[in-house]
Amino acid sequence: EHTRFLVFSASLRKGSLNTKLAKLAAKVIEQHGGTVDFADMEAFDCPSFNQDLEVDNYHPEGAAEFRKRILDNDAFIIACPEYNGSMPGVIKNVIDWTSRFRPQPFHQHHALLLSASPSMAGGNRGLWALRVPLEHLGTRVYPDMFSLATAHEAFDENGGLKDKTLAKRFEDNLVSFMNLVEASKHYPCIKKA
Ligand code: FNR
Repeated sequence: EHTRFLVFSASLRKGSLNTKLAKLAAKVIEQHGGTVDFADMEAFDCPSFNQDLEVDNYHPEGAAEFRKRILDNDAFIIACPEYNGSMPGVIKNVIDWTSRFRPQPFHQHHALLLSASPSMAGGNRGLWALRVPLEHLGTRVYPDMFSLATAHEAFDENGGLKDKTLAKRFEDNLVSFMNLVEASKHYPCIKKA
């Protein structure tokens, strides 16, 4: 059975650079024999978290959808913008809501983090912020993260990366992650509960 990857961008913006990077990740995964479940961040959008809303086992639709898509796949990949040196509120909000399900769906799931930004740092600081809640929840966040600098100039007309060295690094990063996720399916001790 093919290894399944939920891939999405944590940007709601139509012309999002992170969505471009997520689409490229999906393409590379498929080229290497993986199955992609591509999601739109809008499907995971939730009202601002408020514990007062948590009556009668209430969970917003966006969180229910995120939970389902995490559980339906072997791993998830987020291409996440950096806002003010951290992650956008929209992704933290859905992580908080989704963390309220029992069993807690992030536990022991593999994740790979990507970012794209017009800046020279490529939004990498946002990924260090995003690691914190995910690791807190028991997600196995892959050590190598990919951040695309000057992303507004990085893509060619087919959605690939103009810089071939960088394109190879991106591909290697994804393939290493795919191999880990694939291998972990065969070892019950590290398989998701
Ligand atoms: C930004 N941007 C930004 N970029 C960055 O590299 N570091 C940062 O700290 C910030 N901060 C920031 C705050 C806010 C409120 C906005 C709206 C933007 C710029 C950001 O990287 C750029 O808008 C990207 O294009 C956003 O990602 P998408 O929507 O293109 O995927």
